[in-house]
Amino acid sequence: MNDFTDKNILVLGGSRGIGAAIVRRFAAGGGQVAFTYAGSRPAAEKLAAETGASAIQADSADRSELVATVAGRGALDILVIAAGTLVMGDPLEIEADAIDHMIDVNVRAPYHAAVEAARRMNANGRIIVIGSVNGDRMPIAGATAYALTKSAVQGMVRGLARDFGARGITVNSIQPGPTDSDMNPADGPMAQTMHGFMAIKRHARPDEVAELTAYVAGPHGAMITGSMQTIDGGFGA
Ligand SMILES: NC(=O)c1ccc[n+]([C@@H]2O[C@H](COP(=O)([O-])OP(=O)(O)OC[C@H]3O[C@@H](n4cnc5c(N)ncnc54)[C@H](OP(=O)(O)O)[C@@H]3O)[C@@H](O)[C@H]2O)c1
Repeated sequence: MNDFTDKNILVLGGSRGIGAAIVRRFAAGGGQVAFTYAGSRPAAEKLAAETGASAIQADSADRSELVATVAGRGALDILVIAAGTLVMGDPLEIEADAIDHMIDVNVRAPYHAAVEAARRMNANGRIIVIGSVNGDRMPIAGATAYALTKSAVQGMVRGLARDFGARGITVNSIQPGPTDSDMNPADGPMAQTMHGFMAIKRHARPDEVAELTAYVAGPHGAMITGSMQTIDGGFGA
């Protein structure tokens, strides 16, 4: 297990799902972990009590609040952006505001948070965005704008890796495939369809995604940058 003792770590969107597993993993590794949440206060407080991490209410869709929260954590060693939303449906019928909110949370927030963190990040810091294999492959109808947001993350990661590389800061995306969470339950109505696209026909567990995140965030990840680390059971193969 990588040692994150005394590392200053911020996880955006850590109250539930993949983000919560990442908070648990870094806390188990000895990190000084803070995480944000938007609406899930009981889940956030429970996780904070369980792990010793600090829970901060901050809406990623509110740029001022987001930037102030990142700045308030000082010189970070590791920033993980796990906050994300999924809006699905017929593009001719989905409300434009719902699409724009998803773009705010999934694209604008990772960009502004990453840049703000980099203003004062320690040398050899780590910026990790939880993207999606849907940035590479979108085999079903109804998720166009979600795929758009995850492809946008790929461009951002490639560019910021070059912007911050001189300081030893790495910038990467972890790209899960179907992963058991409130967003995409392993027993949900779409599960069988998704497993049909996979070589390993099951949802990942959030802790499996967290372990890959910890590898990229740890000392062995120093030469991994500008990359998409896909963990999808072969969904995109
Ligand atoms: N599950 C999958 O199959 C899958 C696959 C590929 C990629 N992903 C990506 O993985 C990331 C995490 O997804 P998940 O499955 O863990 O989803 P989830 O179970 O729905 O959890 C989403 C997390 O993001 C937080 N969040 C959402 N909107 C926020 C906002 N405006 N401000 C701050 N925090 C916000 C939520 O906090 P609150 O509850 O407090 O609002 C919650 O902690 C997302 O980027 C998602 O696109 C998921």
